[in-house]
Amino acid sequence: MTTKKVLFLCGSPRRKGSASLYTAKYLARFLDYDYEFVDVAKAKLSTDPSETEPPFLRILERMQTADATVWTFGAWVLFVPVQMQYLLDKLFAHGHDFSGKIAAAVMTSVHAHDDFILDRMRFVSEQLGFGYIGDVSAEGNPFFGYTEDEEVTEDSCRILAGQLNRTLADGYVPARHYPPVERKYLTSTYRGPGFSMDEPPVTKTNDKTILIVTGNRLSEDSANASVIESIRRYSRNSVEVIELQDRHIGPCVGCYLCDFNVDGICVRKDEYEAIKRHLHQVDGIVFVGTCSSGMVDCHLKAFLDRCWGIYHRPSLKGKYGFVIATGGGPLEAEAARYLRVVLTMTGTRCIAALTQSAADAHDFATTVRRVVEDLDRALDEKWQIADRFEIRGVTRTFRDLVAATGMMLRADYRFYKEHRMFDTPSPGGVNALMRLLFKSKKMEKWLIAMQQARIAKAREERLTAYLQRCRLGEGEEIPC
Ligand SMILES: Cc1cc2nc3c(=O)[nH]c(=O)nc-3n(C[C@H](O)[C@H](O)[C@H](O)COP(=O)(O)O)c2cc1C
Repeated sequence: MTTKKVLFLCGSPRRKGSASLYTAKYLARFLDYDYEFVDVAKAKLSTDPSETEPPFLRILERMQTADATVWTFGAWVLFVPVQMQYLLDKLFAHGHDFSGKIAAAVMTSVHAHDDFILDRMRFVSEQLGFGYIGDVSAEGNPFFGYTEDEEVTEDSCRILAGQLNRTLADGYVPARHYPPVERKYLTSTYRGPGFSMDEPPVTKTNDKTILIVTGNRLSEDSANASVIESIRRYSRNSVEVIELQDRHIGPCVGCYLCDFNVDGICVRKDEYEAIKRHLHQVDGIVFVGTCSSGMVDCHLKAFLDRCWGIYHRPSLKGKYGFVIATGGGPLEAEAARYLRVVLTMTGTRCIAALTQSAADAHDFATTVRRVVEDLDRALDEKWQIADRFEIRGVTRTFRDLVAATGMMLRADYRFYKEHRMFDTPSPGGVNALMRLLFKSKKMEKWLIAMQQARIAKAREERLTAYLQRCRLGEGEEIPC
């Protein structure tokens, strides 16, 4: 047996309950090389990209000694869980390069933007120097691991394991898909430039409130500080700012209680619920993000992860806003697109997604002013804007999920019913039955256990049928 090694970096904070870990463990059984699982979320890495604390160094050492790294994670608001982004931020900040090595991804999700997320993982992997061999996108459920299309998921796992085996055997490194981007744009320490404003401030009427949510402390981010100064100056309405870096917002732990509790309240005791309430009170919402690790800064990302309960039932309908991505040069377009989709998923009408770098400073300053004026108009005139494909897709994905799982997503169910969002019939009498069963905790437990047993039995039968033709891998798990 060769000494080559495959490393599964697990980013889900859901530990042993993680659907992606469960899926990766299935895949690992077909590897011909030894493999290990490292829990990145458990390492509790700091948000400071320059800090090289011992848990980070231990993960780094494992990445350096592994021949292939498999990013293993649940989709977490159109990217990885922020706990995994802390790792990416550090890898980029310290200029680490894994050229000659292979990366792949195993992701579970509800298939809302799974293609976008996996494409970002390919991008990030290639910027770190890896050759990207492929990925598995499986539907994951907090109780049952991977679900739906189970046969397809298992086949995809075996195919990816086979590709990893062959790649490690002959040393093949796949060609890049993305050209390298200057490292500074990927690091969270790089910030865009500030800009000046020529026009005088407008007279305030203060009849509405615009809330700006930004990740980085403004005293350390000139671009974002200028954007915010511009909004304050050119909006007739009153403007409030939340600098998340200075607020106490921990990462989402993936307990799903915001979905299952009827009131949708997050169980974490920090400032999130107060900010969420405030989002519901204001009229306009603006997200200002700084690019980092191919997405937005980890302070904003941690907050957006926590808003998961809002995306399910877009309760910020009737509000208007816009988004801006700064500090990422050519990466701002994707980051702005990301922020636009996320803001729209809350129900807020996003009137613009701006990027700073491609414009000259004067044009950018003018554009920000015009968009601020438009936001005031949109709020006054209640602009009607049709949902586009991305948002329709996500809304329907969630709605169908709710319809198919009945009371399992209790809070969603109530919201969707009250807002008459079930415009297609739900499957037969299943929902009525589900709601009945899920009225009792005892029944709920019984139902989950029964489903788990059914899934496990079906999986074992499929595996037995597969083993009549093929074999398991020869690799073994290396204990941590
Ligand atoms: C905070 C949060 C954000 C999520 N974001 C997405 C998403 O953007 N797209 C998606 O399809 N599923 C999303 N999901 C669903 C999870 O990705 C899915 O349940 C996955 O199987 C969880 O994997 P894990 O158990 O390994 O964490 C999200 C779940 C949570 C809790």
